[in-house]
Amino acid sequence: MQHRQTNQLFNFDKFPNFEKDIDLKQRAWIEVTGKAIETNVRTLRSKLSKNCQFMAVVKADGYGHDAKVVSEYAIKGGASELGVATLKEGIKLRSSGVQKPILILGNLYTKRDLIICFKNDLMPTISSIRECLICNNIGKHFGLKFPLHLKVDTGMSRLGFEYNKFVQQFENIKSFDNISIEGIYSHLSCADELNSLDPKSITQIQRQKFQELLKQINVGRNKNIKIHLANSAGMLLDKNFHFHMVRVGLSMYGYSPLAKIDKNLLLKSALSLKVKVAFTRTIDKGVSVSYGGTFVSDRKTKLAVLSIGYADGVPRNLSGKINVIHNNKFYPQVGSITMDQMMVDITDSNEIKVGSTMVLLGSDGDKTISPQEWARKSNTIPWEILCSFKNRLPKVQVD
Ligand SMILES: Cc1ncc(COP(=O)(O)O)c(C=O)c1O
Repeated sequence: MQHRQTNQLFNFDKFPNFEKDIDLKQRAWIEVTGKAIETNVRTLRSKLSKNCQFMAVVKADGYGHDAKVVSEYAIKGGASELGVATLKEGIKLRSSGVQKPILILGNLYTKRDLIICFKNDLMPTISSIRECLICNNIGKHFGLKFPLHLKVDTGMSRLGFEYNKFVQQFENIKSFDNISIEGIYSHLSCADELNSLDPKSITQIQRQKFQELLKQINVGRNKNIKIHLANSAGMLLDKNFHFHMVRVGLSMYGYSPLAKIDKNLLLKSALSLKVKVAFTRTIDKGVSVSYGGTFVSDRKTKLAVLSIGYADGVPRNLSGKINVIHNNKFYPQVGSITMDQMMVDITDSNEIKVGSTMVLLGSDGDKTISPQEWARKSNTIPWEILCSFKNRLPKVQVD
């Protein structure tokens, strides 16, 4: 048997747990700098209006960075609350020891989920009287108040109470004895559009609608209810969007959704994507590379085979459109990106060899490749690029 033969050459006892002994940087990995998150939170907080709090949005495993690491450093930077999308994400953070308030931004609609939410000291987002009643009953059952945030739809048409009915419904909700309204919020749908400062833009209309509603329900005097509207783009637009708290994701990770403002902010990217060269080969002129033969060499070409592909979260439609960095030099990726590997033209390098590390996202010397660049080239948004990395890529914290 294969296993027995190998055993004669190799003392397995020295490696009791092979899986744990595998070097995290053996293939491809994500490097995360917690310090960058901390610095970004400080930088962003310095732009907030007085007493405005900062909720760090760490859903989707901290936009692919590792929610635990991001939360820890965001809190060091002064974040006072955390936002997640799902019950599971919230429970995971709580069980990792995070003590700050955690708001679930997605919708929980069953009694069972809302009980679990309550028991784990997580706050749900409430978008209907029905959900409010369930929370009130749960609170009553435990003889406590169930803390929650109410959401109103001002134009996103996703979650939230219907705008025109909210004032009346709020009167009803106020009479529920076993809930505690910790916040009232809405979400901007177009804040990253270039026209967002235009008074007639969707973003400004959403803000006006939200303000009008707050006036009507007269919560201004109740300092215990946190009012919040802005995501990264809204926060960066103008202080009128700040209210009592902002909910910030993308810019905390080092990327501005507003290209114009980006330069002044000096945000630091917290993530790099790195990969090892698994193999090299030289092909003659006129030889095709990868599936479909979309690339054919126009000279004798040296190729590096990198251990990363679309099953790791690199969009396949970036095939032939991206560069990879090594020692402060760009090298073009060629041919179709495959499930687990991709090829790079390294003809111009004498130093790249099997085991060399190359940078797909992040910086090396003065060269940088950003998720925004990948998003532009693959016709998507940087949020999607960051959230697409798969579990197969280990996350390595470097501070
Ligand atoms: C409700 C809500 N608030 C805030 C954010 C953070 O957005 P951004 O990453 O643009 O800062 C999100 C993210 O999509 C969200 O869904």
